[in-house]
Amino acid sequence: MKPRVLITSNDIPSAGIDLLRTKCDVTIIQTTNPSQEDVLQVLPGHDAIFVTNHLNINSDFLNNAGTSLKVVSTMSAGYDHLDVPEIKRRGIKVGHTPMVLSDAVAEIAVLLALNAARRTHEGRLKLEQGQVMKNLQWLLGQELRGSTVGIVGLGNIGQAIVKRLKGFSVARFVYTGHSRKKAGDELGAHFVSLDDLLEQSDFVIVSVPLNNETRGLFDDDTFNKMKKNAVFVNISRGQIVKTNALIKALRNNIIFAAGLDVTDPEPLPPDHELLKISNAVVIPHLGSATVKTRNDMSFTAAQNILNGLEGKPLIYEL
Ligand code: DGY
Repeated sequence: MKPRVLITSNDIPSAGIDLLRTKCDVTIIQTTNPSQEDVLQVLPGHDAIFVTNHLNINSDFLNNAGTSLKVVSTMSAGYDHLDVPEIKRRGIKVGHTPMVLSDAVAEIAVLLALNAARRTHEGRLKLEQGQVMKNLQWLLGQELRGSTVGIVGLGNIGQAIVKRLKGFSVARFVYTGHSRKKAGDELGAHFVSLDDLLEQSDFVIVSVPLNNETRGLFDDDTFNKMKKNAVFVNISRGQIVKTNALIKALRNNIIFAAGLDVTDPEPLPPDHELLKISNAVVIPHLGSATVKTRNDMSFTAAQNILNGLEGKPLIYEL
């Protein structure tokens, strides 16, 4: 009998589904973001589950998942929606899809850095209000050229961001994290403390995973340490930033601007304060949203499942 795989969304790119169908019986839940309850109704009896970051897999979920589950595979790099220690404690393998999305997310970081620095959102608002250039001081922005760029978390995405920004004549790259990295040396980036990074950087780009150490890392205190001209970019997870502190920093010109692919809450309600601030460029978590990257993520998540079911190491195992 073929192993049974449950796919928890009806909009997963076919690359992964086609791969799974070569060796497994595949069931697809016919809604886009089903609730835990909807998933649990059909999950028992399946050997593997293919999820996205909309589904929380915690101890309660696993208590109701039945006894046949052997692999949990998320089509995302981030895994803050999974209780990884609990999944593994139950002998279930768990995988994710880093690396294949680093380039696409890095492109979004560059896009946000430039848009926030050059005030494109504010300019668009002025056009809509019928305002035209008033004087030569109108809508002046910041440049990457000659700047110091600080990367908080020099993982694969952080490294991909540095590689792209090198083409913009940045004067100095600094980064912070647990320790100095060989990749940092190779990129010519300097390892510094978080405080030094905040004090020195003209651009602060966040690319760390969300965990207990990083949740709420950016608060009043961190924003107050930044330069007045600093452009803050977040492409990782919204909860790394205390939203009220960011709003205060933007409104009171404690920092220059922000570019956000992720927010807390997410999605932002249409009347949310962040959407009313002209020096915040906000987009709806588009980091990995390209045709190629989503296909690659789907394929990798499927390959993780096949490997797990065949008793092989997953491509990217947690
Ligand atoms: C991820 O994969 O974690 C990205 O945030 C895209 O969802």
